[in-house]
Amino acid sequence: MHATTPRLVLRPFTAADGAALHAYLGLAEVVRFEPYGPVTRDGAEREAARRAGDPRFVAAVRREDDVLVGHVYCAPEGPPAWRTWAVGYVFDPRYGGVGYATEAARAVVDHCFRAEGAHRVVAGCDPRNERSWRLLERLGMRREGHERRCASFEDDADGRPVWHDAYRYAVLAQEWVTAG
Ligand SMILES: CC(C)(COP(=O)(O)OP(=O)(O)OC[C@H]1O[C@@H](n2cnc3c(N)ncnc32)[C@H](O)[C@@H]1OP(=O)(O)O)[C@@H](O)C(=O)NCCC(=O)NCCS
Repeated sequence: MHATTPRLVLRPFTAADGAALHAYLGLAEVVRFEPYGPVTRDGAEREAARRAGDPRFVAAVRREDDVLVGHVYCAPEGPPAWRTWAVGYVFDPRYGGVGYATEAARAVVDHCFRAEGAHRVVAGCDPRNERSWRLLERLGMRREGHERRCASFEDDADGRPVWHDAYRYAVLAQEWVTAG
């Protein structure tokens, strides 16, 4: 996807984005709620090259100085006939708190509805990840579920899964048009 928002350019990743990706995916605080740990510099280089051919990942680049500030994930979910898309996002905390993630995610959700013909856009997050669910609510998404102990990304010292909850959010096409 290619799009421009007031402060950002949204574009595909390129293989040259490895250092910028490492700057935030290398931080434990950033990947705390992700199903993977901090990436190494080499891992970030490989990931940038991989994402360069993966349209599900959208890089958010600041227009004023061309700095990559984060990314949005966007992909179809479930049977194609359901026209449901899932979104996610990870942003560099050095540029947090000024609305870049909201601005980028809003543009991606808008793209799902207007360009992809989505009927419904969904997102999930750990209830402890308040910044994430506050972002979803800024977008106008509705909390539709609180799933209990539905996922685990790690085992405890005894080899048992560490379960965590998830909030489920969604917005429908007719609601997005109305909100817009
Ligand atoms: C989730 C995440 C993207 C949220 O980042 P964020 O900095 O809170 O989000 P934004 O960039 O949209 O900034 C929002 C803040 O900017 C403020 N803001 C200022 N100008 C704004 C604008 N024009 N538009 C929207 N918000 C604006 C908002 O009021 C909000 O401030 P607050 O936190 O004091 O309420 C970030 O915490 C992150 O990447 N976390 C790690 C990865 C992660 O957990 N991803 C989600 C997995 S489900």
